[in-house]
Amino acid sequence: MNSTPHLDRDLFSADEIRERVEAIAGEIARDFDGGDFLAIALLKGSFVFTADLIRALARHGLHPVVDFLALSSYGAETTSCGTVTLRHELSLPVTGQRVLLIDDILDTGLTLQTACQMLARQGAAEIRTCVLLDKPSRRVAPITADYTGFKIGDVFVVGYGLDYNNRYRHLPGLATLRFYGPPGGA
Ligand code: XMP
Repeated sequence: MNSTPHLDRDLFSADEIRERVEAIAGEIARDFDGGDFLAIALLKGSFVFTADLIRALARHGLHPVVDFLALSSYGAETTSCGTVTLRHELSLPVTGQRVLLIDDILDTGLTLQTACQMLARQGAAEIRTCVLLDKPSRRVAPITADYTGFKIGDVFVVGYGLDYNNRYRHLPGLATLRFYGPPGGA
């Protein structure tokens, strides 16, 4: 159990995020070259990023079908427990589809790796991955994202859809969270 959390410092402002999302949409548009594809958002943390990304993609002439998948490796803690569980299935078939898999943050990599394996087993024709944040120093699974917003160090981040215990998702920018007090929380 962690101690009491407090917002620590701002990492990226809403404007900086908007700029990166626009740039990523441009990269994706170049690579997908006008073709149709399925955008799959990994819930819950990527919902704000996905909402902005699909609208940026539309400005580049891409209108993917959107679906949602929920996997979970976190409880009320800030480190992955290492076991990834399926919480919400896809509602659409992926067989033969080009897929853009969208997540909020690539940490140990276990979640994205598991999602890619699931989609491959279900017959996706091609899988590209897109993450807003990447913490390369924490990687356990050998995976890198095809599109990355920002690389960050080993800090716990909230805002712009990312949470701690389902709070802080409303923040327009990204900030680090720091824990004070004795482990176990007073
Ligand atoms: P793995 O370790 O599987 O983790 O790559 C990916 C998932 O872990 C969550 N995660 C975070 N959530 N702030 C958050 O709000 C963080 O700093 C953080 N690091 C990892 C997130 O749900 C991600 O999809």
